[in-house]
Amino acid sequence: MVASKLSNVDFSKYFQPPSLKDARRRRHEAVHIINDFSIPDDIHEIGKGKKYLIETYGCQMNEHDTEVMAGILEEMGYEETSEPEQAAILLINTCAIRENAENKVFGHIGKYKALKREKPDMVLGICGCMAQEESVVNKILEKYPWVDLIFGTHNIHRLPQLLREAFFGKEMVVEVWSKEGDIVENLPQSRHGHFQAWVNIMYGCDKFCTYCIVPYTRGKERSRRPEEIIAEVRDLARQGYKEVTLLGQNVNAYGKDLKDLENYGLGNLMDEMRKIGIPRIRFTTSHPKDFDDHLINVLGKGGNLCEHIHLPVQSGNSEILKIMGRGYTRERYLDLFHKIKAAVPNASFTTDIIVGFPNETDEQFEDTLSLVRECRFDGAFTFIYSPRAGTPAARMKDNVPMEVKKERLQRLNDLIDQFSAESNAKYQDKIVEVLVEGESRKNSNVLSGHTRTNKVVNFSGPKSLVGQLVSVKITEAKQWSLDGDWQREPEVAGR
Ligand code: 5AD
Ligand code: SF4
Repeated sequence: MVASKLSNVDFSKYFQPPSLKDARRRRHEAVHIINDFSIPDDIHEIGKGKKYLIETYGCQMNEHDTEVMAGILEEMGYEETSEPEQAAILLINTCAIRENAENKVFGHIGKYKALKREKPDMVLGICGCMAQEESVVNKILEKYPWVDLIFGTHNIHRLPQLLREAFFGKEMVVEVWSKEGDIVENLPQSRHGHFQAWVNIMYGCDKFCTYCIVPYTRGKERSRRPEEIIAEVRDLARQGYKEVTLLGQNVNAYGKDLKDLENYGLGNLMDEMRKIGIPRIRFTTSHPKDFDDHLINVLGKGGNLCEHIHLPVQSGNSEILKIMGRGYTRERYLDLFHKIKAAVPNASFTTDIIVGFPNETDEQFEDTLSLVRECRFDGAFTFIYSPRAGTPAARMKDNVPMEVKKERLQRLNDLIDQFSAESNAKYQDKIVEVLVEGESRKNSNVLSGHTRTNKVVNFSGPKSLVGQLVSVKITEAKQWSLDGDWQREPEVAGR
């Protein structure tokens, strides 16, 4: 499995370049649950007195993978540092979703050339989604020979063994698995916070939206057993965590692969979550196609299930949605949206939108604007389409000039801003529950946190409130955040 930096290495063994045909076959492969993580004795304490730094790009899934890698490194004795100069191990956990994310990472790898020259014993490793791409690995081998280690998203649990190879070998260690079927349980995790936690409920994606690289970099959809998830969340509750976010690339497909559990889906899991004594449960990311009535009914029960739904639409035009391979039309999205809104009346909605998909016409883009006007989203992540090598959309000829795409993005963002401000204005003078996360980024005298509906709230108060649920009266609704006054009283429970 480990390849060294030799020009005659056959990399086809280690990589699976994006291939829709091959990737679709994988659905029939069995899922293995690996439970035997351990750190070999000879390197168990190798990190004592040394430091590590992990730079993380991309989504919450990556952030959580970083927590797992940090947990492994801390078990080996390493301590975290934020200074690259102090790190004995420097890992870059990468994101492949758009080209600009990748360019940023290449910039950083370039930047560390000088540091590696000064500190030749430091291990510089590249991991995450970019490492799953053959073209990226080849580029690193060719142009960035000061990198010591490359590993992918499927073999994080082998970090100790890979580090041993990197410490004691002379050549670049490359281990990227193309297999898609494993779930590794019982890995150590060093969670970043003590009151908010991420919990993976499933891995991978089988949706194969035609623009997206994720199904290739993250492998096939595979769900963790509900009993494992419930035990993990119960344990977090016992430790006093206040908020848990259940994670997956397509959480609504949860349970489909658990063949022994008949019709067990995200709705069932969320119903279990309601019984656990954690004040807030969130989940992300949803796919409209798999969002079923059972889940809607369970969300309608409220309790600790937060009223915020992130429901990526991508486009408001049915033809574009079809070419994107999204599996729903504009009308079906809107039906679903209104159904959830009716069941969870106070819910906030956010979405993801891509503009400038190949050959998107002005009229088709106007459909996206009109859908935004109908849904009045609380916020949206908006992107210009970025071709990803190996995906079907990257092979489509595109007649939309970049200037036009940029203009569309601007128009879309202006509209989103308008609705964000409008939805924030509704909070004026209301008292909301805020989970206090820390000092505001802009002003250390101000505390900052989120409402259940995921709105940012800033207010003055003692630092001792960090990690607590407090009541705040909104005094000023701004475009992106809410300002308020802390209501001195004990913690509020529930809604
Ligand atoms: N180009 C632009 N945006 C993309 N996304 C995914 N792939 C691409 C791409 N190739 C966006 C989608 C997705 C979000 C995480 O990133 O909107 O929901
Ligand atoms: Fe990518 Fe999300 Fe589509 Fe999966 S559902 S292919 S992660 S955009």
